[in-house]
Amino acid sequence: MKPVRYGMIGGGQGAFIGGIHRTAAAIAGNWQLVAGAFSSTPEKSKASGAEIGVDPARTYGSWAEMIAREAELPADVRIEAVSIVTPNHMHAPPAIAALEAGLDVIIDKPLANTMDNARAIAEAALRSGRRIAVTHTYTGYPLVKQARELVAGGQFGKVRRVMVKYTQDWLSRASDLENNKQAAWRVDPNQSGDAGAFGDIGTHAANLVEFITGERIASICAELTMLPGRHIDDDGSALFRLSGGGKGTLVASQVLVGDANDLAISVYCDEAGLHWRQEQPNSMTIGRRDKPTEIWNAGANRAYLATDVRAVQRTPGGHPEGYLEAFANIYRAFGEELRGGASAHTPGYATMDDTLSGMRFLAASLESSRQGAVWVDL
Ligand SMILES: NC(=O)c1ccc[n+]([C@@H]2O[C@H](COP(=O)([O-])OP(=O)(O)OC[C@H]3O[C@@H](n4cnc5c(N)ncnc54)[C@H](O)[C@@H]3O)[C@@H](O)[C@H]2O)c1
Repeated sequence: MKPVRYGMIGGGQGAFIGGIHRTAAAIAGNWQLVAGAFSSTPEKSKASGAEIGVDPARTYGSWAEMIAREAELPADVRIEAVSIVTPNHMHAPPAIAALEAGLDVIIDKPLANTMDNARAIAEAALRSGRRIAVTHTYTGYPLVKQARELVAGGQFGKVRRVMVKYTQDWLSRASDLENNKQAAWRVDPNQSGDAGAFGDIGTHAANLVEFITGERIASICAELTMLPGRHIDDDGSALFRLSGGGKGTLVASQVLVGDANDLAISVYCDEAGLHWRQEQPNSMTIGRRDKPTEIWNAGANRAYLATDVRAVQRTPGGHPEGYLEAFANIYRAFGEELRGGASAHTPGYATMDDTLSGMRFLAASLESSRQGAVWVDL
């Protein structure tokens, strides 16, 4: 199958996630970066394209120019999809324009800075009939997929309680906001949206809960807080209820000192409890009352893993895969679907439904916190 030709929007010099997307797409092997509008200024976009190695004739000054000029190229040359890796307020305009131009879209989370913009993207996808994938990175890990097979597949009985935390410390000092490109837009409600850490990493935690349990967060009671001088949350916790009746707790914070990227989840069901932590992603433990605790390891040759979970791995057990490969699994699955094939593992990426659920999670968390931590239905 020919790779999907894509153009990147954002991800220029000094950006964080754009480079990760490009590496992931390259590992996936079924994507080809052929164009880009890599920055908010034409000069920086051109300089970034040159560094990345994109044809200067197809390195554009703006995403609008890229979408218009690419449409003039022969059908077997022009971009078929865009990868959107801009700050949250710059998701909806290029996503809607790309969908309306007949392009498929892979976009980073949260879907948009506001619920209205998220809905507008969803409507554009529906109108155009084009497809959209959202990069909730952590669902790309093999053992997270295995956890879904076990929990959502009902092998442990009903879900009783989920405990999820996503904690970092990179915004824990006032000085962290100085000369920091990634921090600057994340603490600005005009760019990030009304949610801070809950939007940036809480949405990943909520998505992980829904992915592994196969249920939706149905209601939430949240308290979001922030360090003095900040305008949107950098720390928060919530109680939630799942659609299947189970309960849960969620903590998302970027000011907890000593934690680098500590996403960890425990899912307790009638018959077993399962624990996975993204900083040690190649093992998960499963505890039962009447048996010794099991440690499950990742690896393409671990026969106890489900066939489709083995299929998304590139190396045998003991040769660790990580963040980049998990990200690549999302690209690979979406690329396979765009080429009309079946993906190795379904669901291989977060869909519009999943990401709108994440936006409802944010809106309800903010509303709950504003009202003094009352229960709010999603
Ligand atoms: N999936 C994940 O794990 C993950 C991790 C980090 C960030 N993200 C998401 O990725 C997005 C980007 O985050 P980041 O940390 O890489 O931000 P960043 O500030 O490092 O990079 C943003 C890039 O977008 C460019 N940009 C801004 N406006 C533009 C425009 N109009 N046209 C073209 N380019 C433009 C900037 O110049 C920059 O290159 C955010 O939505 C964020 O939530 C996701």
